[in-house]
Amino acid sequence: MKQKELKVALLGATGAVGQRYINMLRDHPFIRLEVLMGGESAGKKYGEAARWLFPEPMGDEYAQMEVKKSRTESAAGCDIVFSALPSEVAKEVEPAFARAGFPVVSEASAHRMEDDVPLVIPEVNPDHLSLLEGQRASRGWKGSIVTTPNCTVMGLAMVMKPLVELFGMDKAIVTTMQALSGAGFPGVPSLLVVDNILPYIKNEEEKVAREARKILGTVRKEGRSKVIEPLELPMGVSCNRVQVIDGHTETLYSEFPRAVEPGAAVRALERFRGLPQKLKLPTAPSQPIIVRTEHDRPQPRLDRMAGSVPGMSVVVGRVRRGIDDRSLMLTLLSHNTIRGAAGTAILTAELMQREGYIG
Ligand SMILES: NC(=O)c1ccc[n+]([C@@H]2O[C@H](COP(=O)([O-])OP(=O)(O)OC[C@H]3O[C@@H](n4cnc5c(N)ncnc54)[C@H](OP(=O)(O)O)[C@@H]3O)[C@@H](O)[C@H]2O)c1
Repeated sequence: MKQKELKVALLGATGAVGQRYINMLRDHPFIRLEVLMGGESAGKKYGEAARWLFPEPMGDEYAQMEVKKSRTESAAGCDIVFSALPSEVAKEVEPAFARAGFPVVSEASAHRMEDDVPLVIPEVNPDHLSLLEGQRASRGWKGSIVTTPNCTVMGLAMVMKPLVELFGMDKAIVTTMQALSGAGFPGVPSLLVVDNILPYIKNEEEKVAREARKILGTVRKEGRSKVIEPLELPMGVSCNRVQVIDGHTETLYSEFPRAVEPGAAVRALERFRGLPQKLKLPTAPSQPIIVRTEHDRPQPRLDRMAGSVPGMSVVVGRVRRGIDDRSLMLTLLSHNTIRGAAGTAILTAELMQREGYIG
């Protein structure tokens, strides 16, 4: 059966993440980017408004599109709205679209931690989409808001999922080395970051721990509605900005209730598959977690575009024993604007359509 076409409106189209959507959707089998919206650039042609960041050409069909105002009327006739807005703008704008009947899939942090808002990685917690019925009922919305995680949490939660499921986890200590594109455009001033590492990213460490616990949490019925019971897990997180353009690298030290062989952890990571793989969704990589065995991988330059859908697989390496046989250490890498942003939002929309949440 031919897949129904999904018409899309994009908020924040000119930004670092907005541009990724354009790159990822140009050849999509059934998602069509129909409306581009912006802030200061509204009224201009996209080709003049966007400071294009990629080596691939923007494409004349997008260059000639007018950037529309970020209002619900601009998206008339669209089936779904992707939001790559700054969080403070998303706070007001996204509920207005949901109220007007649009399903919104958002990259912004504004609504991620609200009780009735799913925070979804399609491979990890697709069942959290079941919060949407309660969200619509309690807010009186015809539309809805689904969020995708912070780019640093994305790869981390994916790698934690099979480890938590198979071995349980008592403690996690994470250190990140985050790419410049994670701060949007124009991002961190060059005089601060060239020849340097910045050992602080505002609000990031709290977000990583909070969001990971929610994503790895379980859906529980509470009266007539559903809530997420977050995973109880002590986590320590240190976030650093490094001068890499794309690709967040993270080290994870984790402790378990019983002994875990590094080889068993590698097998669990390599075998991990989610619902998007089962459903063969177009943006689902065939292997969500790729494990490298070389002593010096993963590396951003070599591994950020890994996977059957480039940039959608998380790459893990250096899986080894920690301080004793009940602890493990590893390094992981994920592309922050593909897997960590546009790619996961697109995959979420594909899943929502297949599961009957859209259209
Ligand atoms: N970069 C990443 O790796 C990453 C990963 C995951 C999530 N995120 C999140 O995704 C969102 C976008 O990030 P980004 O890196 O793409 O940011 P960005 O490069 O700063 O782009 C921001 C976009 O929002 C638009 N905008 C700003 N103010 C607006 C307003 N008042 N009304 C309407 N549109 C407005 C801008 O349009 P104009 O140019 O027309 O003003 C631009 O298109 C943020 O919430 C960020 O936290 C980013």
